[in-house]
Amino acid sequence: MKKIIIEKRQGETLTLDNHQTNRKMYIESYGCQMNFSDSEIVASILAKEGFSSTKKIEEAEIVLVNTCSIREKAEQTVRKRLEYYNSIKKSKNKKMIVGVLGCMAERLKKNLLEEEKLVDIVVGPDAYRDLPKLITEVEDGKKAINVILSLEETYADINPIRLNSNGVCAYVSITRGCDNMCSFCVVPYTRGRERSRDPKSILEECNKLVFEGYKEVTLLGQNVDSYLWYGGGAKKNYKNATEEERNQSIDFASLLDFIATNIPELRIRFSTSNPQDMTIDVVKTMAKHKNICKYIHLPVQSGSDRILKLMNRGYNRKQYISLIDKIKEIIPECGISMDIITGFCSENEKDHLDTLSLMDYVKYDYGYMFKYSERSNTYAQRKMQDDVHEDIKQRRLSEIINKQTKHSLYNMKEKIGKVYEVLIEKLSKKSNNHYVGRTTHNTAVVFEKENKQIGEYVMVKINRCTSATLIGEII
Ligand code: SAH
Ligand code: F3S
Repeated sequence: MKKIIIEKRQGETLTLDNHQTNRKMYIESYGCQMNFSDSEIVASILAKEGFSSTKKIEEAEIVLVNTCSIREKAEQTVRKRLEYYNSIKKSKNKKMIVGVLGCMAERLKKNLLEEEKLVDIVVGPDAYRDLPKLITEVEDGKKAINVILSLEETYADINPIRLNSNGVCAYVSITRGCDNMCSFCVVPYTRGRERSRDPKSILEECNKLVFEGYKEVTLLGQNVDSYLWYGGGAKKNYKNATEEERNQSIDFASLLDFIATNIPELRIRFSTSNPQDMTIDVVKTMAKHKNICKYIHLPVQSGSDRILKLMNRGYNRKQYISLIDKIKEIIPECGISMDIITGFCSENEKDHLDTLSLMDYVKYDYGYMFKYSERSNTYAQRKMQDDVHEDIKQRRLSEIINKQTKHSLYNMKEKIGKVYEVLIEKLSKKSNNHYVGRTTHNTAVVFEKENKQIGEYVMVKINRCTSATLIGEII
């Protein structure tokens, strides 16, 4: 029988009989970038079992949905998708196996199998290596579940299979889990304790991407600034590290420096930064390397000290502002975006005004803004009252969104007439004659194609803008 090679890594060649390679998997991802990155790890694990990915759900032997639990609405979206899968299963694909991955799997565990009869497999973020075994269990007529969280798993040795990729930008995960315990957040419960990935394996993945023609990576973690490798990666166990291990440990600034120095042709982004863990060293490292993008996503959540304390964010308004000031001092043009939650437990009008005034001070380039959504088991759910009325949450959210739209437009207008280096990512959705790319500050730019190719850098002069996009021409 003819053998085909599907993956080669560190001298290891994996071959499969080609009758095994007709199996199709369909993977859909919701939520944060980490979930999209995890789906690529899952695709790689299943490729070794002979599965290739398809966009047609009707022909998939296995349908996987990588889920998000961060807000109630995210979970509702997934429940609706499960209903849709059910209709496909009944009408067009009776044998299909349905698996739920990610945060909802971890949060609801076996309840999910009871609540959603269609679901065959429930697998949490640290158990994806077990998927082949779980699939076999389902083929044997059982329901299968693994939601064990780990202190070590980083999938460092797995070569992700890039899904829906433009061939230019890729995600590379560097930490998993979160130890910060913000009182509103479900992530520490669904993604487990924080651990960092071996820097050598991160560099190796980046090198491989460059070899394949990728131009930009986004280093991912719930909290990248607390990256720490000391021979092991579990943050919780760092206290047991020897003096030698501590002396040789690599923090996030050193990791950035290591990758930026070793692969100068690679453009590097990272997300998400947490104000309580971000160091000035990180900002200085950004300034030092041309290939590290001058953009920081720095969620603030609230501008009120009282609320920040209740949220257990580990910084106050003054400290946040001082960090912003230092960033602007070291990198004056740095793009800055945020997350804000409105209507957290006991938030009053003064707290809300504090958030608005903080926004006025920072004038963010972009923002992700949400109404507080109570998540079970979190500290806020157990100890506080979700007592801000829905109408008030909505009104405050609208005020915050309106302000952000004004600030975004203001910042965009400042860029008119200037020239920026843009990495071409893809065709514009609106026109086949135009490309979209991003500046180092993470601003989207649309311009006419001319004779350029996706993946090239071009200099673009900005002529006009909307609050979300710059429009210009190649010079
Ligand atoms: N550090 C993470 C944060 C994950 S959650 C990261 O990598 O982005 C992303 C954002 O969702 C948070 O910054 C917060 O603004 C919002 N969020 C988290 N829990 C929420 C909740 N219970 N209700 C509303 N928004 C929430
Ligand atoms: Fe969530 Fe706070 Fe961690 S928002 S992901 S607990 S930094």
